[in-house]
Amino acid sequence: MTSQLWDSFRAEGYDEGTDRMPTDAAVDFLAALAPGGSAVEFAIGTGRVGVPLSHRGVTVAGIDTSVAMLDQLRPKPGADRITIVEGDMSIDRVPGAFDLAYLVFNTITNLLTQQSQVDCFRNAAAHLRPGGHFVIECYVPDLRLLPIGAVAVPFAVEDEYVGFDTYDMLTQRQTSHHFTVAEGRSRAVRSEHRYAWPSEMDLMAQLAGLTLTERWADWTRAPFTADSRSHVSVWEKPL
Ligand SMILES: C[S@@+](CC[C@H](N)C(=O)[O-])C[C@H]1O[C@@H](n2cnc3c(N)ncnc32)[C@H](O)[C@@H]1O
Repeated sequence: MTSQLWDSFRAEGYDEGTDRMPTDAAVDFLAALAPGGSAVEFAIGTGRVGVPLSHRGVTVAGIDTSVAMLDQLRPKPGADRITIVEGDMSIDRVPGAFDLAYLVFNTITNLLTQQSQVDCFRNAAAHLRPGGHFVIECYVPDLRLLPIGAVAVPFAVEDEYVGFDTYDMLTQRQTSHHFTVAEGRSRAVRSEHRYAWPSEMDLMAQLAGLTLTERWADWTRAPFTADSRSHVSVWEKPL
């Protein structure tokens, strides 16, 4: 079960909307785990990370469900060297055994059940050679900001944009609501997620036969603390 958010409207504006992200730092981090080797990106999207990683000498493959996002990836210089599979990262395979599998930009939360997230960890492990690594970049759930009795946490309140999250704590389902006004027209977008704590991901990794080797707050290796809002975690498939 995945979000249906990634249509052609979102895909066409995606690269412009993400051009301020710390992509270079992410590519540096990932390239160091697979120097001259091979990597598979789960949810490769438009290739924001996969294309520059390929330019760093890593042989890259990617899986994504969205035809519209992959249509943005295919014409990019160097994308012809990337093996692309249109499919679901929780079940579909790219042939081969990889040094690195990675899933960035909170996208594990696009899998809306615990079972599909566990399946995704198992699928990542199945793509790795012994000694290979699985990397996830994800936010830490913001539940400490949710006052008792409230149902929503605002994350942006600006003149032309309001964004907030609502939570169902029984299912760990989270809905992000975005309301934008541009040139007098309003637009509302929702995305559905299932949040998971880093500790729950460690258990999913354990179920998949992987062991945590590193956890940082971000791609620059800032220390992960109780106040970190995000994490970059690395698990290893035993030799
Ligand atoms: C936030 S974008 C991330 C794209 C890219 N990884 C990046 O960092 O720029 C989320 C992507 O996840 C893809 N996606 C969502 N659920 C998926 C699934 N179950 N299997 C594969 N791709 C999925 C969407 O199609 C979309 O391209």
